[in-house]
Amino acid sequence: MEAKKENCAVKTFTFMDESCGKAEPGQFVMVWIPGVDEIPMSLSAINPGGFTSITVHGVGEASRALNKKEKGDQIGIRGPFGNGFVPAGGNVMVVGGGTGLAPLLPLTENLVKVADKITLMCGAKCQDNLLFLDRVDRILSELDSETVFTTDDGSYGIECMVTDQVKQKLKKEKFDMIYTCGPEQMMYSMFLLAEQHNVPLQASLERIMRCAIGLCGSCQIGKLRVCKDGPVLNSEQLRSVKEEFGKFQLDLTGKRIKLQ
Ligand SMILES: Cc1cc2nc3c(=O)[nH]c(=O)nc-3n(C[C@H](O)[C@H](O)[C@H](O)COP(=O)(O)OP(=O)(O)OC[C@H]3O[C@@H](n4cnc5c(N)ncnc54)[C@H](O)[C@@H]3O)c2cc1C
Ligand code: FES
Repeated sequence: MEAKKENCAVKTFTFMDESCGKAEPGQFVMVWIPGVDEIPMSLSAINPGGFTSITVHGVGEASRALNKKEKGDQIGIRGPFGNGFVPAGGNVMVVGGGTGLAPLLPLTENLVKVADKITLMCGAKCQDNLLFLDRVDRILSELDSETVFTTDDGSYGIECMVTDQVKQKLKKEKFDMIYTCGPEQMMYSMFLLAEQHNVPLQASLERIMRCAIGLCGSCQIGKLRVCKDGPVLNSEQLRSVKEEFGKFQLDLTGKRIKLQ
């Protein structure tokens, strides 16, 4: 296993796994950190040979313990699980917030082969949290594309929320599909905007996950289980859970709590 520091809180780990090499962008793996916990992580790079990456934001006990791992340390990988993004042709928009950009990169690599135009919108709190700038440049160099970067503090790109820029774009241009991953409030705003402009949306949701195969119920949202029906949900599925999407989630004990 290789490890690369992206910024003070985010690290990318690369390992060989044949099954992950065949995964769809948007699918996830359960990462076992021996003696600590097992947590869900999206694949941030997928290569047919099996070279696979995860990009981890240290937010709590398990993700911080994972980010202490170095080259040669051992972790366990279970998966890949769930349903990934379905690639669409035409004029597509990809909207990532913070580490949410991770699963959108392998997707964008696939979209380059089928889409006519890609508009990639990346938002983060500050410049340091805007990840993968070189990779974005490389991926989009082959196609008619537009990239917009926003930061909350104006340290890079436009000083605003990424959804403010999306709003402007949707007023001027007709899109055939929008893909999004990031903080749930951002994705909920994306859902409302996509509905308003009649554009289909695919969003990758996060919930507490334990079994990752649809059995334990810890990832329930409405009638859906995010690990099995998602993590990527389409507009129709998002409409069916709109009472909870952006508002509530289950905590570690299974209690319904307000989303932070
Ligand atoms: C399908 C999927 C893909 C993900 N991909 C990535 C990724 O590519 N990169 C990344 O950095 N993070 C990703 N996450 C989020 C990551 O799994 C959580 O940040 C991690 O599990 C937190 O565990 P912890 O012990 O470090 O934090 P905790 O101390 O347990 O909690 C810190 C915060 O994370 C939330 N959280 C805790 N456990 C989970 C969980 N199992 N799932 C979701 N949220 C949780 C808590 O509600 C709390 O707000 C993904 C989550 C899902 C469901
Ligand atoms: S994680 Fe167990 S049902 Fe989804």
